[in-house]
Amino acid sequence: GDQKDRREMASTRTHVVCMPSPAQGHINAMLKFAKVLHSKGFFITFVNSEFNHNRVLKSKGPSALDGLPDFRFATIPDGLPPSDLDKNQSGPVLCTSMKKTCSAPFTKLLTALDDPSSGVPPVACVISDFICSFTLDATTAMAIPNIYFCSFSACGFMGVFYYKDLMERGIIPLKSEEDLRNGYLDTAIDWIPGMPKLRLKDLTSFLRTANQEDLMLNFFTGEGQASLQATAIIFNTFHELEAPVIEALSSMLPPIYDIGPLHLLPQHIPNGSFSPIGGVDLWRGDSSCMKWLDEKEPGSVLYVNFGSLIEITNEQFIEFAWGLANSGCEFLWVIRYDLVKGSAAVLPKEFCAETNGRRFITSWCVQEEVLSHAAIGGFLTHCGWNSTLESISAGVPMICWPFFADQQTNCKYVCSEWGIGVEIDADVKREEVAMLIKEVMEGEKGKKMKRKVLEWKEKAVEAAKPGGTSWKNLEMVIDKEIMKKK
Ligand code: UDX
Repeated sequence: GDQKDRREMASTRTHVVCMPSPAQGHINAMLKFAKVLHSKGFFITFVNSEFNHNRVLKSKGPSALDGLPDFRFATIPDGLPPSDLDKNQSGPVLCTSMKKTCSAPFTKLLTALDDPSSGVPPVACVISDFICSFTLDATTAMAIPNIYFCSFSACGFMGVFYYKDLMERGIIPLKSEEDLRNGYLDTAIDWIPGMPKLRLKDLTSFLRTANQEDLMLNFFTGEGQASLQATAIIFNTFHELEAPVIEALSSMLPPIYDIGPLHLLPQHIPNGSFSPIGGVDLWRGDSSCMKWLDEKEPGSVLYVNFGSLIEITNEQFIEFAWGLANSGCEFLWVIRYDLVKGSAAVLPKEFCAETNGRRFITSWCVQEEVLSHAAIGGFLTHCGWNSTLESISAGVPMICWPFFADQQTNCKYVCSEWGIGVEIDADVKREEVAMLIKEVMEGEKGKKMKRKVLEWKEKAVEAAKPGGTSWKNLEMVIDKEIMKKK
């Protein structure tokens, strides 16, 4: 019975262990890739931090992570004190803790999975988030491939990879906190291969510090260099979108495979779109917004969502609220319960009266479905890489308010390189928000951006089709890297 099946499975299936960084955007992207591999016949172990595992069970129910006989979930501790808190952990604290403490539990997990008595196929390879270099100890010891998976854009990753160079040139860390305000961040950077002329502030944001000991700057600098030790690096992007930077990275790093947008691949794989494995959502979803959208005219609704991580001030929140109200536009706004720093988001009564009948507010949605709905005409976004790619794939122009990490770089490319978005100033003001919404939803500029984003969508679709660049790279990474024998 079951034991015989397992033995058969063990002899025929290649076992891949996926280790995402424990944040929603990273988990989602890795899960998409894990599902693709699973539908191509691989045996998958998907590793979550204990903290996130428990959060998912809380948001989606106790059986959410039961998995399948050949797609299993496992956990490792993140090194932080146990907590029941139902909100994001602090990024710098979490990253530092992972780097310090996760190597041992990860090695222990891999060793246990690899043991013949485990009942699962021996571990053939690890797919590791590009900021989980703690996995390298175990894969080196076991002499198996460690393939990095980058959840940033290629352009965002390039910034991180160049932190070391920027330090050696004495450009970062900043000389003083004053440099954050005196125009220093406008310094031109025009020597990074494959990148257009940029300003310092267009590069991944962890460099915005004058503190030599800054946790995030040092963590990302180290992780950027550690990528040189990966067997190969996978990017969730497509060649046509970021060709110059991908080509430049290819000449500096282990083999690069750009295989995105990942969510467009399954439809071309037999049974690929049928996935009995749910998402790994840390927040409870709400599908009633889809019914609301069904009633709306094509292209008439603005979708507003700042992703899973960022926390904004109450002042910023209120500026966005009035910007939306004053735009006169219909909108779907996803307000996470931990979006506003330090307090629950409270919308002014006048705002509610003013936007009555043209707003839908919820706390978490299935974003890919929302973006693909015909009623959506624009996306007010923080430019997280997943959101950016999902927006491109759905042919939706963007209004960008980048916050941190690779978001500034993504925004720069969205607005200047790809011509599919406009940017809101970091110091957000309601007048600008309302003006840009009108421009994108109704104006000539919006129409031009819409045409452009549809062209990019077409290219994304082509890349992910059998014979397309991403499709071919997927087959290649499987043949050359994942199936590479010990
Ligand atoms: C983080 C970083 O901020 C981002 O810059 C980096 O590129 C990846 O990791 P996050 O801020 O959460 O991610 O943004 P994003 O990359 O856009 O990922 C959010 C994901 O959650 C998307 O896949 C989106 O579809 C999903 N999501 C978000 C939902 O399904 N529902 C929601 O309501 C909000």
